Amino acid sequence: MVVELVSHSPEETAALGRWLGERLWPGSFVALVGDLGAGKSVLAAGILSGLGVVRSGGSPTFTLLWEYRRGRVPAFHWDLYRLDPAGDLAALGYEDSFYGDGVCIVEWADRARDLWPPEHLEVQLAAVRGGAGGPGPDAGAAERRLTFRPAGARYERLVEELRRAHAGL
Ligand SMILES: Nc1ncnc2c1ncn2[C@@H]1O[C@H](COP(=O)(O)OP(=O)(O)OP(=O)(O)O)[C@@H](O)[C@H]1O
Ligand SMILES: [Mg+2]
Repeated sequence: MVVELVSHSPEETAALGRWLGERLWPGSFVALVGDLGAGKSVLAAGILSGLGVVRSGGSPTFTLLWEYRRGRVPAFHWDLYRLDPAGDLAALGYEDSFYGDGVCIVEWADRARDLWPPEHLEVQLAAVRGGAGGPGPDAGAAERRLTFRPAGARYERLVEELRRAHAGL
């Protein structure tokens, strides 16, 4: 089942991420897809916080992967925005994080769609135009539509639970 929720603030997006992070399991894979500024990093930070890992400082400009090994489960956070199209993800050892025992979160995951594990959770984020504020310079600036597309029975159950737990969004 595909589930759509609307987040009205970065805090709400982070809270959704925390909700997910508290429920993800070893080996789970979360593919984040959406334009610049859509909220992928906000959601990823929420997931990491739900997993019990704390991200230190800002993003180093050219880092594609952050690893966290001290949380409830190991976590891997990729940002493929700067992936060289000819670059070799294999050389960066993506298999260990994409198909390993940790939780793998990938921003700009559509840049490596061929490599996604068959069972995964895809979350698409998009700004909502002309949202709550109505017409005006900042109309809907804080609204994001999050579309959750599970693949595999376990992700289906997770997204069903997500929908029930966030019926108001
Ligand atoms: N509902 C919302 N959810 C998430 N972020 C929001 C929301 N409303 C406003 N924002 C703002 O949008 C920005 C989202 O930035 P973020 O870095 O998470 O985007 P991103 O998708 O990771 O972009 P990039 O592709 O550049 O990494 C932040 O400045 C955040 O404060
Ligand atoms: Mg980001």
